[in-house]
Amino acid sequence: MSEGPSYRLDGQVGIVTGAANGIGKELAIGLAQAGADIVIGDLPAQREQAEDTARQVRCAGRQALVLDLDVTDLASIEAVVSKAVAEFGKLDFIVNNAGINIRKPVLDYTEEEWEKLIAVNLKGVFFCSQIAARQMVKQRRGKIVNIASQLAVVGMKDRSIYAITKAGVAHMAKVFALELGPYGITVNAVGPTFVSTPLTTSMFQDPRFIEENLPKIPLGRFGTPRDVLGAVRFLLSPAADLITGHLLLVDGGYTVM
Ligand SMILES: NC(=O)c1ccc[n+]([C@@H]2O[C@H](COP(=O)([O-])OP(=O)(O)OC[C@H]3O[C@@H](n4cnc5c(N)ncnc54)[C@H](O)[C@@H]3O)[C@@H](O)[C@H]2O)c1
Repeated sequence: MSEGPSYRLDGQVGIVTGAANGIGKELAIGLAQAGADIVIGDLPAQREQAEDTARQVRCAGRQALVLDLDVTDLASIEAVVSKAVAEFGKLDFIVNNAGINIRKPVLDYTEEEWEKLIAVNLKGVFFCSQIAARQMVKQRRGKIVNIASQLAVVGMKDRSIYAITKAGVAHMAKVFALELGPYGITVNAVGPTFVSTPLTTSMFQDPRFIEENLPKIPLGRFGTPRDVLGAVRFLLSPAADLITGHLLLVDGGYTVM
């Protein structure tokens, strides 16, 4: 009898954006442990942390390529995709993980802050997906995963622009899935709950944040980068070959209320 669907990524090659820190770092290492070679794309200022991710990918027995990437700059994205293909000969997946946040009341945001959040969280995901997909179309296969958030489906005070961008990348998975499906490319999104990372250090240091938000999670704990890895790894694996246009929430039930 056959063993059933595979959850492994042996022989695959993928890009993880924002893989120098936090969730992206865990994704890069965990996807390497599942068998994939990883291209680590992050800002030049994060080079040292990116090299640390690469070291851990290599410890898992896979190849790692560290490349400077600014997801708001199309030339930079083009360079990363073409160097990845030049090095490995193909691109099986991209995880659009790079993201930022600026937390403020709706009444206080500036136009500059709007532009910054939209540029990284929304434009960045669109063009990373588009440029990666051009390579995947040639191959007639590929998988794209956008890291959204539970705030793609519910609101939260002081996170309006962020929530708008995350709803955008969840919906982007649907519209890309529609157009790229005929080329054998799946496009999905993952929506984590609160996870302690450099992005959320100030939140997790605030006892009021914990008091107010922990009770809203039916499973009774916050997320970890490893929890996010579980969902991403599944969506990239052969076991998820027929799953596309989906938002997979990893939120402990935060959004069921
Ligand atoms: N931490 C959470 O609670 C949480 C919850 C839900 C979703 N997310 C999402 O998960 C993703 C990762 O978040 P994290 O918490 O690990 O954040 P993080 O700040 O720890 O890591 C984000 C990484 O993205 C990189 N980055 C930022 N701007 C970039 C750009 N222009 N080009 C390339 N790289 C860039 C950063 O240098 C950093 O290495 C983000 O999309 C975030 O919105 C996080």
